Amino acid sequence: MKTISIINLKGGVAKTISSINIAYTLVKNHGKKVLLIDNDKQGNTSKFFGVHGYDDAGMAELLTERGLDVKSVIKNTAYDNLDIISANMNLLRADKEILLDVSRPQQTRLNKALSSLRDEYDYFIIDNAPDINMSVINALVASDDVLVPIKVDKFAFDGLEQLVEQIEDVREFNEDIVFRGCFITMYQRTGVNMQGSEYLASSTPYPLFNTMIRKTVKVDETTFAGKPLLDYRKSTAGEDYENLVNEYLKMC
Ligand SMILES: Nc1ncnc2c1ncn2[C@@H]1O[C@H](COP(=O)(O)OP(=O)(O)OP(=O)(O)O)[C@@H](O)[C@H]1O
Ligand SMILES: [Mg+2]
Repeated sequence: MKTISIINLKGGVAKTISSINIAYTLVKNHGKKVLLIDNDKQGNTSKFFGVHGYDDAGMAELLTERGLDVKSVIKNTAYDNLDIISANMNLLRADKEILLDVSRPQQTRLNKALSSLRDEYDYFIIDNAPDINMSVINALVASDDVLVPIKVDKFAFDGLEQLVEQIEDVREFNEDIVFRGCFITMYQRTGVNMQGSEYLASSTPYPLFNTMIRKTVKVDETTFAGKPLLDYRKSTAGEDYENLVNEYLKMC
């Protein structure tokens, strides 16, 4: 069983879209059972699957309420073998609460909360906020692998140094965490994208996946349909996520 954090301190680089589609590709193409964990107060992954709300406990409560049964925060999606822990604006409060409550460990709560589920799922996929806060640190402590979606522009690697530093800090609690690499999202065959991606590949000190996720309007459409790409119309980005998952599985 593996836990994967999808993370980048930058916003709008396709963390959420990648979390959803990597998760569903593992379910559909590889027969895996996956728990998606929404770790962003924006709750975009939860909204995508129609499970966003304030009536039930979710990620915020899991991180702050003592003795909460993790099974009570799991929600089903419309798909077999794909479950979700939802998030909402309560995560804002939860992040502050974790910092104030020094009566128990602060960084290891998610890891501990998930421990009883490790036999039930093949993968936990965590969609993180574009930030480093206590809930993101909890995600890194719980993760085996880190994947970083990036968009080709001059600022593509901004914040990556801080992220890598954070991963190193987390080793105190999780010595085996692996930064598997960055992958390019929203790729277009334009001059700037082609030259930019070549430049990134040659200049980055960080590992970079060969697979690039192409830009297509179908991705925006899937957010309205609430369907992962492989359950929507055939698309270039859907194929790319299949290849990305294959590339990832080969390295593990
Ligand atoms: N391959 C793609 N082709 C076209 N549009 C895409 C693609 N991937 C993502 N998008 C669009 O880009 C926007 C940002 O994607 P997404 O919400 O996944 O980013 P994010 O990194 O999770 O953002 P945030 O930092 O706000 O959480 C969305 O509107 C999404 O539909
Ligand atoms: Mg997001």
